[in-house]
Amino acid sequence: MTPLTQTPEWLALAKHRDTLAPRHLNDLFAADPQRFSRLSLRLGELLFDFSKQRITAETLQLLAKLAEARGLAGFMRRMANGKPINSTENRAALHVALRAGRPYRVNGTDVLPQVLDTRVRMRELANDIRSGARCGAGGQPIRNVVNLGIGGSDLGPRMATQALGEYADPGIKVRFVANIDPAEFASTVRDLDPAETLFILSSKTFGTQETLANARAAKAWLGAGTDIDRHFVAVTNNLAAAEAFGIARGNCFALPEWVGGRFSMWSAIGLPLACAIGMDAFEDMLAGARKMDEHFLAAPLSANLPAAMALIGIWNIDFLNAESLAVIPYSHRLGLLPAYLQQLEMESNGKRVTHEGEPVGCATAPVLWGMAGSVGQHAFHQLFYQGTRLTPIDFVVPVGDASPEQEALVANALAQSAALMRGKPEEEARRQLLASGRPAAEAQRLAPHLVCPGNQPSSTLLMPALTPRALGGLIALYEHKVAVQGCIWGVNSFDQWGVEHGKQMAREILPKMLSGEGDFDASTAGLLANIRKWQEGKRNES
Ligand code: F6P
Repeated sequence: MTPLTQTPEWLALAKHRDTLAPRHLNDLFAADPQRFSRLSLRLGELLFDFSKQRITAETLQLLAKLAEARGLAGFMRRMANGKPINSTENRAALHVALRAGRPYRVNGTDVLPQVLDTRVRMRELANDIRSGARCGAGGQPIRNVVNLGIGGSDLGPRMATQALGEYADPGIKVRFVANIDPAEFASTVRDLDPAETLFILSSKTFGTQETLANARAAKAWLGAGTDIDRHFVAVTNNLAAAEAFGIARGNCFALPEWVGGRFSMWSAIGLPLACAIGMDAFEDMLAGARKMDEHFLAAPLSANLPAAMALIGIWNIDFLNAESLAVIPYSHRLGLLPAYLQQLEMESNGKRVTHEGEPVGCATAPVLWGMAGSVGQHAFHQLFYQGTRLTPIDFVVPVGDASPEQEALVANALAQSAALMRGKPEEEARRQLLASGRPAAEAQRLAPHLVCPGNQPSSTLLMPALTPRALGGLIALYEHKVAVQGCIWGVNSFDQWGVEHGKQMAREILPKMLSGEGDFDASTAGLLANIRKWQEGKRNES
């Protein structure tokens, strides 16, 4: 198989890049008054504007040829048909089935019945908690739900619960603990009554050290002798381990092996969210994702939102050499979206070899980062305007209500996107300085410091409001974007062997922290020696 970067389609894109490079976005807009309509796509109420990306219609045509050459259509079919596209674990990646309204098959078995059964059980639990029917061991209604999980067993439901906070029942506290740092558990439960608290132990493997440590802390916090079954449920693929912990099967929700952790918020991993917003709203979120799925699997490449987002990302990363992607939701409630997308994108495509074990030969997942706008403007936008790095940006903009503050928020998003593209040439800077009363000589001296080159690429995802459906569609959009990019690069987007290595190192170091044994590199050995010295010092003081 021809290496990706030697394919005719890749080489044509590289040639096109060189041709396009001298043209500024301002020129591209001036040359084509229809640029916005040509380079934006809609699905329902979601508008995806990518006209401020450094592309032309020809760029997209060449990218589409690359996608075809890389077998995207066949990949999408295999994914939807439950084939083991997670090639190193021989598993399907069928998270679309979690929000399905129709059968999906894994190894010939329709998984929809088990999906629907889980949704029924989720509804029962959420309704019982929200109605006060679910009581703790002491007979008091459960009023607090605390999710114990990390990574995909935390980031999705945590992000969505914050994002959809306005749909939440204020009478139910839904909180999340992920870190093994005991400070998170302590601060989360500090104001809660154990008698009214239910813990959701979310762990696909039921083997993640942070989650098990927090589960033990929760047991201790509930008090010895507390009936675990009244204060714990588990979401896991390891029912035996859950039972060994003390959680009966009837209090366990299965997490199928064909669902990857970072793709699991649509499953019972979404229980905390369902408890917060209710199962009707949760199923609205599923419906929004389903609509994106149907679009993704049916729309031609030229009108396919996830494919367009994915291909533009490939262009920015592999042809314009962007090393990061900033995701900036202009929405306080969506503030956790970048953190969620970090796992989705960087754990999926932070890979260096193909399914065949060969080096990919080009850059893969970017460093994804970001924070809510408009706050980010006062933290890092300076680098966008006058730094030395190309940093593509996804602006995510729920328009919301017509209050003055909300309108100002939205105006800031559009203004940043436009200003970063447009820039400020030196002549304009000089005029601005003169107009502000600066003497000519000073204006001449300062002008270079005010110049903004512009030409910073961005996309804008505009939606009328942050509803459950809108959020479902947005997340599914990014999930499919990640899968398409993995297909183009030829990597497995659904395993995470690197992270397992890190976990193994932690398991090796932890027991030897104090004993001093172990064959470590000089840095780790030196750090451990200092920790031991400080801890011995503390013990001597006490
Ligand atoms: O980060 C590694 C990882 O395995 C993720 O893929 C997963 O979402 C997370 O740890 C938690 O794993 P589990 O749900 O098995 O506790």
